[in-house]
Amino acid sequence: MIVPADIASAADYERYFRDRADPALSAYIDGAGADGITARWNREAFSRLALHGRVLADMRGAHTRTRLCGIDLECPLLLAPVAHHRLVHEEGEVATALGASAAGVAMTVSTQASRTLEDIAAAATTPLLFQLYLQPDRADTLRLVRRAEAAGYRALVVTVDAPVTGLRNSEQRAGFRLPAAVRAVNLDGMATLDMAGAPGRSPVFSGLLDHAPGWGDIEWLRRETPLPILLKGILHPDDARRALACGIDCLVVSNHGGRTLDTLPATLDALPAIATAVQGRVPLLLDGGIRRGTDIVKALALGASAVLIGRPQLHALAIAGASGVAHLLTILRTELEVAMALAGCSRPDAIDKNLVWRP
Ligand code: FNR
Ligand code: LAC
Repeated sequence: MIVPADIASAADYERYFRDRADPALSAYIDGAGADGITARWNREAFSRLALHGRVLADMRGAHTRTRLCGIDLECPLLLAPVAHHRLVHEEGEVATALGASAAGVAMTVSTQASRTLEDIAAAATTPLLFQLYLQPDRADTLRLVRRAEAAGYRALVVTVDAPVTGLRNSEQRAGFRLPAAVRAVNLDGMATLDMAGAPGRSPVFSGLLDHAPGWGDIEWLRRETPLPILLKGILHPDDARRALACGIDCLVVSNHGGRTLDTLPATLDALPAIATAVQGRVPLLLDGGIRRGTDIVKALALGASAVLIGRPQLHALAIAGASGVAHLLTILRTELEVAMALAGCSRPDAIDKNLVWRP
């Protein structure tokens, strides 16, 4: 697949995708929870914040390298876990992994990937993390963990903010259905939640009461695996402190791209309180609305060690396959380098709150 010559930014990939994709697919990928308020706030929080530029700084030896949970990253940017890449490309996550590897960006593979985690690992030369949804049956959860360990995944990203699916009104209106050919192949043979529930019981609460994971499951998982555990979906300082007490290695400040509880705060707005609660004891990641190199700088300035991108990887994969993913990630890496150069920061850890303009 060819990269269109007039694509210069993540927003261009998004526009290309919106103009070409089936409206129901677009509603699933670009849609958010309920009225989409949180998704909008995620972007607005970045636009609201102004940066200081610094001139004539010493940029000798400048680089974007960073280390996270024992993983060497070429830049503080990772692919967020996103379900079902085969919705937009025949090769699915394998093509994404090839693109991420070409660009030197680490990838997080979703529990709901549409290719096996082993096939994705075989294609990748970049570090891989495995996003884990705790399964109703602990034996199934352990099977996924052992497979990820055996395939060389470097960490588990345990997503805790989606025990039920958010209200996806735009998907509902557009009539999105997962095509029969695309499924969460890594869960084949495992028990799934029956969200229909028993007659007379709330379908939401009956599923939750029977199977929703709790802190005890996180403590259990911590005992079961030597892999670093990242907890994804933390927005409240008390939950951050609780996670540290469980021996978690890293927190991902995330509102699931605004796809779960609508009117949760923008992640950039939630980050400072989490950073205060954590006091540097574990690194923080952030996702939600990252579309520019300057967004990465702002997240790092307010306390993140790295960021993840969700939807843009599917836009690029849909438009130009593995080359599109590599191109998108190279654009973002270059934008980050330009922003660092113009802000006078020669390394990611030189980016701090002094860069943020406070009138
Ligand atoms: C997601 N996200 C997600 N998160 C997760 O932990 N497991 C998953 O399987 C998925 N699946 C998924 C599918 C689609 C289509 C989207 C758009 C998102 C959430 C994702 O990891 C991330 O938190 C957000 O996408 C980040 O926001 P942006 O970058 O999309 O604005
Ligand atoms: C979503 C689920 C798959 O956000 O996490 O669509």
